[in-house]
Amino acid sequence: MSDSFIYNSKINHVEQRSELSDQLQQQLSDLQSISGTRDEWPQHKRFAGEAEFWMQVHKALLGAAAELPDRCASLLLLADDPTARKKHLTQLSQLGGQLIHHAHTHHHVEDHHFFPVFQRAFPKLNHHLELLDGDHKILTQSLDQLESALSTLPAVKADASNLSLVMLKGEELLRAANRVNNLFKRHIADEEEICIPAILQL
Ligand SMILES: [Fe+2]
Ligand SMILES: [Fe+2]
Repeated sequence: MSDSFIYNSKINHVEQRSELSDQLQQQLSDLQSISGTRDEWPQHKRFAGEAEFWMQVHKALLGAAAELPDRCASLLLLADDPTARKKHLTQLSQLGGQLIHHAHTHHHVEDHHFFPVFQRAFPKLNHHLELLDGDHKILTQSLDQLESALSTLPAVKADASNLSLVMLKGEELLRAANRVNNLFKRHIADEEEICIPAILQL
């Protein structure tokens, strides 16, 4: 890909940018003017199908990623109830495991199907796809961090009356879950701005 794009910069890195850079937004304007605004996408004749399904998957990922930190915070409030803590830990393990699996499956489809298709059909999206690829690498790191935090939960559950252990591991999990949630919000918002107009023109 072009060497004039630097992912590890304040305007492009997923943990530092607050929106797509001016340059990337400018290069999207042709596609976006043909496909309409976000509010207009559902009315587009090609929306039903891949575009709609893709956005539904994103909605499910965002929902699960937002729920996980909320549930971690609830666990940390269960100071006097080891039985409720055990139940909570089981639910956290299930929710976190499902989110990780779903996210990896989704990224695999994007990396190996959608992005190569866009690369061939829309050479102008070169830098945008480089950005999304960079995001996926950071997301993979954050999902690994979450998986590592989740892997400690069976031991925590077995010792659920040990409040200091629950707090320590619960806070570690909360940090990892918050990171995943924040990354998903930024990545998915920008990915849709880039990819939905492209899908509508395929
Ligand atoms: Fe993605
Ligand atoms: Fe995605």
